[in-house]
Amino acid sequence: MRHLYDTARPMEPRGVARGQAVGRSWWLAPCAPFLHAMSKEPSGSIVPNQQRALDRIEAGPSLDSDAKASRTGAFTDNMKLPVHRWLRYSAGFSAEWVERVVRDHCPPEGLFFDPFAGSGTALLAAQAAGIQSAGAESHPFVVRIAEAKLAWQSDPALLEARAGALVGRANAIVAGHDVTSELLLKCYSGPALAQLETLRRAFLEEPKSDPISSLLWLAITAILRECSGVGTAQWQYILPNKSKARVVQPFDAFAMRIAMFCSDMRNHRITVDRPMCEATVAADDARTLAGFSGLAGKVDLIVTSPPYPNNYDYADATRLEMTFWREIARWSDLQNAVRHKLVRSCSQHSAAEKLDLESLLDDEAISPIRDELSTVCNALSEARETRAGKKTYHTMVGAYFNDLALTWRALRKLCTDDAKVCFVIGDSAPYGVHVPAERWLATLAVAEGFSSPQFEKIRDRNMKWKNRKHRVPLLEGNLWVRG
Ligand SMILES: C[S@@+](CC[C@H](N)C(=O)[O-])C[C@H]1O[C@@H](n2cnc3c(N)ncnc32)[C@H](O)[C@@H]1O
Repeated sequence: MRHLYDTARPMEPRGVARGQAVGRSWWLAPCAPFLHAMSKEPSGSIVPNQQRALDRIEAGPSLDSDAKASRTGAFTDNMKLPVHRWLRYSAGFSAEWVERVVRDHCPPEGLFFDPFAGSGTALLAAQAAGIQSAGAESHPFVVRIAEAKLAWQSDPALLEARAGALVGRANAIVAGHDVTSELLLKCYSGPALAQLETLRRAFLEEPKSDPISSLLWLAITAILRECSGVGTAQWQYILPNKSKARVVQPFDAFAMRIAMFCSDMRNHRITVDRPMCEATVAADDARTLAGFSGLAGKVDLIVTSPPYPNNYDYADATRLEMTFWREIARWSDLQNAVRHKLVRSCSQHSAAEKLDLESLLDDEAISPIRDELSTVCNALSEARETRAGKKTYHTMVGAYFNDLALTWRALRKLCTDDAKVCFVIGDSAPYGVHVPAERWLATLAVAEGFSSPQFEKIRDRNMKWKNRKHRVPLLEGNLWVRG
């Protein structure tokens, strides 16, 4: 069965005449019946049948040069950009791409919004384009990162002075530590941990909580991985059995980080269109956006990257940092401290909440996709019985689409009637069962009052099948809807 696409109504950027080519665009008929037959692989894993894979390849766009030029990129692209490079967050997109989209699609006096603001990439990008912006991020640790980056307009001389005073206090603390956390003891040598502890304790004596203290907090947070002697790929899981060739001493790393911050603070001021243009982030839940009722009917453009239904655990991604700052003592604390505030996109989350599949599928929010969602969730429930890990992907997927339906509902209230919304999204295939996230999200968006869904594929994923747990071809791209 084919996706039904209609190319009649492309969404033009500002200043582009209707009909002019702007990359290749596809419009998805949201109510297209698309129940995939499932077939059992010889191994016993359930995969969408061959026909479905062929349908996707036929219907899916291939990148032409315009589309390539506007690819969303990845967060690694940001590591060469001032302010963005202060701390690497694995789950982002390219700031330069977002800035181009904002310049093309947001009216000059318009309002930009990011409901899954993460480390603040899109908000900084909108600011660089001279557009007022606001965002929500419900991970309590990650929102502090975004807040600190958005404090880049603070006085760099003051940051240098306060950092110097902090190091002075740290030097006065008798080095040593009483750390008992197994994770920290695995990650750091005794001397490195002692230095980090003096920095932490000196930070806790900061005279006031203000944008400069937020920058100092980020500078210490940002050096934690480079000061560890074991494998600590940014934002991924700790690999205590791997050792690093180059480890930086904490005091040196802190000094270098502050120097980088100050240099960027001075230089970025020159490159940004309207440096005083407001960009704010708040700890809020995209499913309700309760703190943003003042923006009702005012948002002109949304570009965001929600969690994918792919089992990535955003809570675990900050375990080292939160343990260092004593915000959690052990892995199990992550559920209460973080996970329960987030969209349910990992099985650790759905397992901890002991979710009931029937109630999830009964929820009115997912009614437009209920039949297809039930088929997939039931297939996952069956697959689970055959797997040693018995992961709760069935309730994870059910809960994920409930959460995203609520997100569309909350966003609808904020958007103008003419708003443009872009979700950078990928599909997934837990246990080899395909979850067509881009199409279901389009359907849910239309049910909540958005119109004209269009999906632009940006890249294929899971094409290198060696070492993969399943062979389902996956994709990533931009889902656009109108307000
Ligand atoms: C793909 S990341 C976005 C990264 C961001 N674009 C950046 O460049 O840093 C998705 C983010 O959504 C956040 N998130 C998850 N559930 C949320 C919710 N219910 N409300 C707001 N943010 C949430 C996660 O903590 C994560 O930071």
